[in-house]
Amino acid sequence: MDAQKLHLLALMFLSLFYLAKSFVPANSFLLNCGSNANASLYDSVFIADSAKPSSVSLTDKNPYPDSPILYRAALVFTSESSYEFSIKQNERGDSLGFRAHNKVLKEFLLRIDGEAFEIIFSPLGDFGFAFVSAIEVFSPPKDFIIDDGARLINGNGIESYKNLTSPVLETVHRVNVGGLKLTPFNDSLWRTWIPDDGFLVLESAAKKASTSHVPNYQNGGAAREIAPDNVYITAREMNRDNSMLNGIFNVTWDFPVGSLGAPYLVRLHLCDIVSPALNQLYFNVYINDFSAYTDLDLSLLTVHVL
Ligand SMILES: *[C@@H]1O[C@H](CO)[C@@H](O)[C@H](O)[C@H]1NC(C)=O
Ligand SMILES: *[C@@H]1O[C@H](CO)[C@@H](O)[C@H](O)[C@H]1NC(C)=O
Ligand SMILES: *[C@@H]1O[C@H](CO)[C@@H](O)[C@H](O)[C@H]1NC(C)=O
Ligand SMILES: *[C@@H]1O[C@H](CO)[C@@H](O)[C@H](O)[C@H]1NC(C)=O
Repeated sequence: MDAQKLHLLALMFLSLFYLAKSFVPANSFLLNCGSNANASLYDSVFIADSAKPSSVSLTDKNPYPDSPILYRAALVFTSESSYEFSIKQNERGDSLGFRAHNKVLKEFLLRIDGEAFEIIFSPLGDFGFAFVSAIEVFSPPKDFIIDDGARLINGNGIESYKNLTSPVLETVHRVNVGGLKLTPFNDSLWRTWIPDDGFLVLESAAKKASTSHVPNYQNGGAAREIAPDNVYITAREMNRDNSMLNGIFNVTWDFPVGSLGAPYLVRLHLCDIVSPALNQLYFNVYINDFSAYTDLDLSLLTVHVL
């Protein structure tokens, strides 16, 4: 099987589940690496983490005035060095997210079964070094990844896929379709969502849609922690007014991905803000030319609630 053509598809839908309070993770460790002062970012305090064996603290002496304090210092490792975080007993077996900041943000989601979680920085070669400015380790809400309904799509067709949480997942793109850039201020899990404009193959094929209604979160469907309101109140719809396209066309997004041969998880967040009534909107979904869903009917998937 050609692994490059493996795609996992999971869909998230909305229902009446209203989470009024903001989310507080059971495990949360925030570190301001390379600094002996605590730093605040996104209303959270990152604890000073100035020294580790075989590391040097570096401070940016001429930071850009608007660069966050968190990014003004870093720990540099010239040989292997590690961080260990202990995991509360009742949270073992659940997912854990972690982000390493060093101007480029690296974000991972994995399942923790043991009592501790270790991050190892390992420089490459004799003169290599590793560095990090900040680390966040946190447990996402339960059911953040629902291991049900994912599809494995490749040249052989569609199979159902189980065990979504067993591999380590690394975020490649997190996109707010038809909307604005969302920063950690706009997201209770401190995620950043970027607009989709740059990924659209033919921008005139789609137009932006938005609503001022708060999403109708339903039990068993998506919740605010799966994606914030701001994601669900904006969308793209096919631009049927585009006469050049004769009414028959696809809206296509191209996402650059780094490693060939790796499977990718595509998570689609759908909230119907464009249908005037139920059962009027059907569409097909293709991933790399492979058919993933035909005649996808959002009314059916959202238990007939608009
Ligand atoms: C940083 O914050 C922690 C937790 O709030 C506190 O215990 C510690 O004293 C603070 N450290 C400094 C250097 O302010
Ligand atoms: C899920 O993945 C784990 C670890 O890779 C493996 O031990 C387990 O058997 C898998 N379960 C299923 C149902 O495939
Ligand atoms: C995101 O949060 C910032 C800071 O609170 C706010 O200025 C901005 O309007 C928010 N963006 C959206 C799309 O709500
Ligand atoms: C949309 O894309 C799929 C997959 O590449 C293709 O099979 C289909 O013919 C396209 N539809 C139109 C109307 O261009």
